[in-house]
Amino acid sequence: KYRRQYFMPPKPCLEWTKKEYIEEAPIWCSVDLRDGNQSLIIPMSLEEKLEFFKLLVAVGFKEIEVGFPAASQTEFDFVRTLIEEDLIPDDVTIQVLTQAREHIIKRTFEAVKGAKRENVIVHLYNSTSKAQREQVFRKSKEEIKQIAVDGARLLQELSERDGGGYRFEYSPESFTGTEVEYALEVCNAVLDVWKPTADHKVIINLPVTVEMSMPHVYASQIEYMCKHMKDREHVVISLHPHNDRGCGVADSELGVLAGADRIEGTLFGNGERTGNVDIITLAMNMYSMGVDPQLDFSDMPHIVDVYEQVTRMKVGYRQPYAGQLVFAAFSGSHQDAIAKGMHYRDEQQETQWTVPYLPLDPRDVGRQYETDVIRINSQSGKGGVAYMLEEYYGYELPVDMREGIGYFMKGISDAQHRELLPNEVRDLFEKEYRNV
Ligand code: KIV
Ligand code: ZN
Repeated sequence: KYRRQYFMPPKPCLEWTKKEYIEEAPIWCSVDLRDGNQSLIIPMSLEEKLEFFKLLVAVGFKEIEVGFPAASQTEFDFVRTLIEEDLIPDDVTIQVLTQAREHIIKRTFEAVKGAKRENVIVHLYNSTSKAQREQVFRKSKEEIKQIAVDGARLLQELSERDGGGYRFEYSPESFTGTEVEYALEVCNAVLDVWKPTADHKVIINLPVTVEMSMPHVYASQIEYMCKHMKDREHVVISLHPHNDRGCGVADSELGVLAGADRIEGTLFGNGERTGNVDIITLAMNMYSMGVDPQLDFSDMPHIVDVYEQVTRMKVGYRQPYAGQLVFAAFSGSHQDAIAKGMHYRDEQQETQWTVPYLPLDPRDVGRQYETDVIRINSQSGKGGVAYMLEEYYGYELPVDMREGIGYFMKGISDAQHRELLPNEVRDLFEKEYRNV
């Protein structure tokens, strides 16, 4: 029996007229250096942030939330370093987060002084959910809306003071716990202040601050917001899913189908609690469906290395597209199908990737067939062993010997209770069958 009654999110608007496919990449914004960083046991040092920033630029991010400058001296100094040492490429926009509070907004503007203003997004937020209004702020809906409007006015004022041109983003934080009509009212009030135009679009970011519904409910909320947002054509609708129910990727994909233009997320889903949405999974899902994600994950092992070093966390073995075991086949039937699929591919000169059990060519993310795909243990079969000996070491095994060799190898692996590496399989084969 459930003891607690949880907040019920707003009902989905069932008028949802979703697209069926994601046909082009959304605008990506990495929040690794802010949301990701603020949730680490030991936040990154300035040098680590710099290294990660360079990686994000190399991967192809054009928008990067680099920190919350008012949160700590390191955060502030990092933004200053990027600007003073001219480390921001011309085609990259940095984003800085600020609460809708006067002294924090002022400190944020100090941090970005001297940057090319069109390459800076100042990201303003305040919490709008029923729970936060009632329990944390003890303020009415009108008062909470006023916090957003006052913050938006101050951003406008400080930007004009510095000559104008900064880009703006507003997030009704805890959007998923906010009545959708009220969230719209607050966003529209902010847009009334900022008055977006074609040349000066504004980003409205609708976060799944805490994931509390099924993905289609969030997508319906996004569709509602897209449909009713003021000046929609001058507004970039952004998603920022967290992953409390494990559905951040689904939230994002359905949110884009429902009309969103932009996604904030992180590499490997680092971020508060269960994390932000994993942009690698999103991008590679697109890639494996033939859509160019506009991000380059072709050297995943290097990305994993840098990530593990600066976050002091490990990428899981089964992390989509990146984990150590995500292309591995130990079991006989999988190995057999992969081996046949690879041969078929060579024979047919297939351009499409259709090899069974492999969602994409592992080499596209910097992985190798020789070490990452066919792996031999007690679960393996004749096809895997034969593939290994033929493809890696050039032995042509007579068909009637394959079964025996397969049983021989798996027997040894079973008795020793460990995996056999390719060179061990070769050595055992040579010793047992060729007297080498
Ligand atoms: O999760 C969230 O709501 C945030 C906001 C500050 C955008 O990180
Ligand atoms: Zn967040």
